[in-house]
Amino acid sequence: MRADILKLLLHSHADGDESSFRKAALQLAAAESTSGHVRVAEEIRAIIAKMPATSTRKTEPVVDIATPRGELADLLEGGHRDERLRDIVLRSDVRELLLRVISENRSRGRLERFGVSPRRRLLFHGAPGCGKTLAAAVLAGEMGLPLMTVRFDALFSRFLGATAIQLRAIFAEMPRRPGVYLFDEFDSVAKARGDSQDVGEMNRVVTAFLQLVDADVSGSILVAATNHVELLDRAVFRRFDVIVPFDTPTREQLVDLLKLRLGTIGLGERDAERLAGNAEGWSFADVVRACDDAVRSMALDDREEISDRDVVAALEELKRRKLPARS
Ligand SMILES: Nc1ncnc2c1ncn2[C@@H]1O[C@H](COP(=O)(O)OP(=O)(O)OP(=O)(O)O)[C@@H](O)[C@H]1O
Ligand SMILES: [Mg+2]
Repeated sequence: MRADILKLLLHSHADGDESSFRKAALQLAAAESTSGHVRVAEEIRAIIAKMPATSTRKTEPVVDIATPRGELADLLEGGHRDERLRDIVLRSDVRELLLRVISENRSRGRLERFGVSPRRRLLFHGAPGCGKTLAAAVLAGEMGLPLMTVRFDALFSRFLGATAIQLRAIFAEMPRRPGVYLFDEFDSVAKARGDSQDVGEMNRVVTAFLQLVDADVSGSILVAATNHVELLDRAVFRRFDVIVPFDTPTREQLVDLLKLRLGTIGLGERDAERLAGNAEGWSFADVVRACDDAVRSMALDDREEISDRDVVAALEELKRRKLPARS
């Protein structure tokens, strides 16, 4: 394991990639710490702390001002969002809840005058393709904040010791850069905790996450999204102010989705109601994909209006390609 880190250190130095170099050095510290060499780990971290913070990447990409640079660039993806509440089909109580969270955060000052703060730690859970990531983008879009997606896969490096450090760096960013922070595929915390051979280290990561959540007074919105809510500890649950379910679509929601996607190009209410029957059992994401296919057929035929047949054919194609989410 140590040899891998050393190779990474040398490679990143050779490439002049300071961000990777720092990361490798942090991993080295973590590996030392795991092996019980706490003093060596401390010394390495002290050296890293003295390294200049500026990134000297050779090819700096063109970035949105919301895009983090340097060490965080690999962990956080940021950007302003155009999605709005009108772009998402939601259960009415869930829509109310999100609207309420948005208003609370808009009226933060007023709430704080009375000693309460807006609810801003949200847990989104539910089946794949049912709008968790989209809803986070909608929150960001409605509040005029960037959506900062924390890449959990990147965070859980092979070297777990580095994970807690990276988490800390992300939380340190939250007060500096107000935004909606989406911890996507959040269950990887819990899953990794169960699977990992190094359970002690993983527990430290989870504990670090919970402490960081508790200590966070940034005012940024924190959204954790998961398909596997059952894997999460009670201790994790308690940290969230609002738990939001994202279910597979009901027949009514399928009608709304078809109208949302195809209403402006000629799909009427009746057609939508009939077609919804053909779409039952699929996720929102599947149906959106079929709608896009239908629009492609229409455009290729040089028509300006969608027909029933386009949608039926696209849904049939979807059925051929994969099994429904609910069977
Ligand atoms: N409730 C919804 N209303 C409208 N469109 C939706 C909805 N849910 C999903 N979609 C469409 O499907 C796409 C994928 O959905 P999204 O990424 O939000 O799913 P998810 O719940 O985050 O899934 P996963 O668990 O796989 O991450 C969206 O970009 C959108 O086009
Ligand atoms: Mg998602």
